[in-house]
Amino acid sequence: MTPRIDFKACRTVQIVFALCGAYFILSFFLKGEQFAWPPSIPHFSQPSIRNGALDHILNETLGFQHIYAIGLKERTDKRDFLTVAASVTGFKVEWLDGVLSKDLQQKSLPKGYNLTTVQPTIIGCWRAHMNALNRVIENSYSTALILEDDADWDVGIKSQLREFARGIHSLKGNTKVSKQAPYGTDWDLLWIGGCASGPHANQTQFYAIPDDPTVPSVQRRATWSGPLDSWKEQFPEDSTRFIYRAEAGCCTFGYAVTSRGAKKILTALAIEHIEAPVDNAMSELCGGLGDRQQIDCFAPFPNLIGTYRPAGPAYRDSDIAITSDQSIHEEQSYNLVYSTRRNIHRLVGGEPTVFAQWGEESPWSPGEIRLQDFVYPRGYLVS
Ligand SMILES: *[C@@H]1O[C@H](CO)[C@@H](O)[C@H](O)[C@H]1NC(C)=O
Ligand SMILES: *[C@@H]1O[C@H](CO)[C@@H](O)[C@H](O)[C@H]1NC(C)=O
Ligand SMILES: *[C@@H]1O[C@H](CO)[C@@H](O)[C@H](O)[C@H]1NC(C)=O
Repeated sequence: MTPRIDFKACRTVQIVFALCGAYFILSFFLKGEQFAWPPSIPHFSQPSIRNGALDHILNETLGFQHIYAIGLKERTDKRDFLTVAASVTGFKVEWLDGVLSKDLQQKSLPKGYNLTTVQPTIIGCWRAHMNALNRVIENSYSTALILEDDADWDVGIKSQLREFARGIHSLKGNTKVSKQAPYGTDWDLLWIGGCASGPHANQTQFYAIPDDPTVPSVQRRATWSGPLDSWKEQFPEDSTRFIYRAEAGCCTFGYAVTSRGAKKILTALAIEHIEAPVDNAMSELCGGLGDRQQIDCFAPFPNLIGTYRPAGPAYRDSDIAITSDQSIHEEQSYNLVYSTRRNIHRLVGGEPTVFAQWGEESPWSPGEIRLQDFVYPRGYLVS
């Protein structure tokens, strides 16, 4: 069984970026289609879980027990920016050093990994994530969020995560939430940030947040081939965020694990071996592909944590795909409308408003919002 996500689209974020310019010109001419919410919805309900029960999501670890950020210690530029961005958002990270190729040795790798045939930076990336999972287990954290150093997020991530938690509880049928575990602990992986994710091909249950101002239009991101067509028929793909049990995902800009999830993933990816980059390997676990034991994954689409690249030459962007590409790109933030990093000067300066990355382009996203007045919409369980 192969997941129906368009992995080609999500693996090539760079191409998506390159297309943005063209899309902008196109969208200028094609601005015909009007926003069409609310459609008629057959079976939906709004969960009664109160904000009070989810208050800890507003704390300085976003309601997780801990937050790690992974990055090469040499990339001081990326550390500076993530530290400031997290600080203006109101959360803190503990840095874990990325792993350089020169520090890998063949005899330490699981059977099946071969340093001469697999790109060492891909193995270094895998190792850094395995180290993070080790730390979650060592410290007995019930939950932890793991970020990569170029992660970016919406200025309203705290209220988005609160609704994400409400979505997970609704999908699981939980009506009571412990303040100490606002996302619950009865899952293995929350694929909060990545390029894309997807449900089982025949999954009928999902949580929808319609008319979400923080959702970029499909002109600005890859279209979604994951769910049943009926999902998009009930809620316009353009402006809805979907939350669901995920069977696939890609890119690891930001994900959360429970202690149970950390043990399962570390066992499958480090004691055993899956021959794939770390994100594809975790995706195989979410899908229970082959004879693998399936893990319990949830995700939003579009994902809530994206990736940021400063204006400048492309060779500076990645520490995994090593290139000498001198081509210059604009400042880019993937999957986000009110990007924290693109608004960093306003946020650090204490200004009351932030800008949408693409201005007034989408009718459901104001071009500028007042942080204080921003209210994230509530979602519905559809089953
Ligand atoms: C790695 O691959 C090379 C080239 O195919 C081969 O010669 C070597 O024996 C392999 N090493 C291991 C540990 O499998
Ligand atoms: C934030 O909330 C979580 C969940 O209740 C808790 O485990 C964590 O210790 C809190 N973090 C801080 C810094 O208060
Ligand atoms: C989805 O349902 C159809 C019709 O029942 C079935 O033929 C198909 O195999 C199912 N797909 C998956 C991935 O289970």
